[in-house]
Amino acid sequence: MTRFIAVSNRRGGVGKTTTTMMLAYGLSVVGRQRVLVVDLDAQSSTSMVLMGYDRLKEARSRSDLNGNIGCTVPNLLIEMFGDDTVEISNYIATRVGDVLLPGGEKPHLDIIPCSYELDDREIEMIVARSSAHATISGVFEHVQRRVGQIIRSVDGAYDYVVIDCAPGLSQIVWGVLRTADFVIIPYIPDKTAEDNVGWLVNRLGAASRAKKRTLPNRASSANQGIIDIIRKKYGGFEVQIPTSLPLSNALDFRFQPTSLSAKFGSANVHVKQLFEAALKWVND
Ligand SMILES: Nc1ncnc2c1ncn2[C@@H]1O[C@H](COP(=O)(O)OP(=O)(O)OP(=O)(O)O)[C@@H](O)[C@H]1O
Ligand SMILES: [Mg+2]
Repeated sequence: MTRFIAVSNRRGGVGKTTTTMMLAYGLSVVGRQRVLVVDLDAQSSTSMVLMGYDRLKEARSRSDLNGNIGCTVPNLLIEMFGDDTVEISNYIATRVGDVLLPGGEKPHLDIIPCSYELDDREIEMIVARSSAHATISGVFEHVQRRVGQIIRSVDGAYDYVVIDCAPGLSQIVWGVLRTADFVIIPYIPDKTAEDNVGWLVNRLGAASRAKKRTLPNRASSANQGIIDIIRKKYGGFEVQIPTSLPLSNALDFRFQPTSLSAKFGSANVHVKQLFEAALKWVND
């Protein structure tokens, strides 16, 4: 059974991509699991971090089975316009990342990369579907349902699918949040966090069956009060990620593959802690 984990927060820059990367390496390298990452953010930072720019450029310039240029999420969206089955494997780049297993082989870590057209493509998709529905909410429902169906079409092929959601709450992101089994909400524990995290948790509660957990990022002794409040009100990991230069440096692709500990340095401990906590949570 594949477990679908979305990493989301409406707010930008809180550590969604960092969390996705930590989970991707934790699950595939430490846990030896089969992992697919889906980059649902036009900024494509996860794609760059896991593929490197050259391989990402190659995926963006390759034709998909429909002859559209780019084996990336935006062209996958074109296939979502209708109701046909989608050949999702066409969009998957295999054995990515810059970390090797201790034996020297590559971990089972794949990605569906993104590109900058994602936001335009979403609007096009909504407009294209509008004649088929009586109301705009009918269109939204279709888009969300199709996104969920397509993401779920890899069920069985991976142990974990980790989806890095764009900031904001587009129909695509909303479709993922509604279909995910688990939602991790990274946040920076500052004055706006309670309001921001609370809004997402409450909105998810009404529409999604996913289990949710908050994850404090850039945590320090100075903001434990906010972390305690958020954990009590909305549920959260015991694990906290501090501000860490090695972690920030790891958000990069190295052409020379390396070991997990060499990539993350002193932040390796946080990768392992998050991996263990996430594994326990999803298997509870
Ligand atoms: N714990 C941390 N310690 C040091 N730097 C961090 C930490 N978490 C995130 N950063 C840095 O902050 C920046 C934003 O992080 P990241 O890209 O993970 O956030 P995001 O939520 O994915 O952003 P966006 O909303 O733009 O997608 C990056 O440069 C990242 O390296
Ligand atoms: Mg990001």
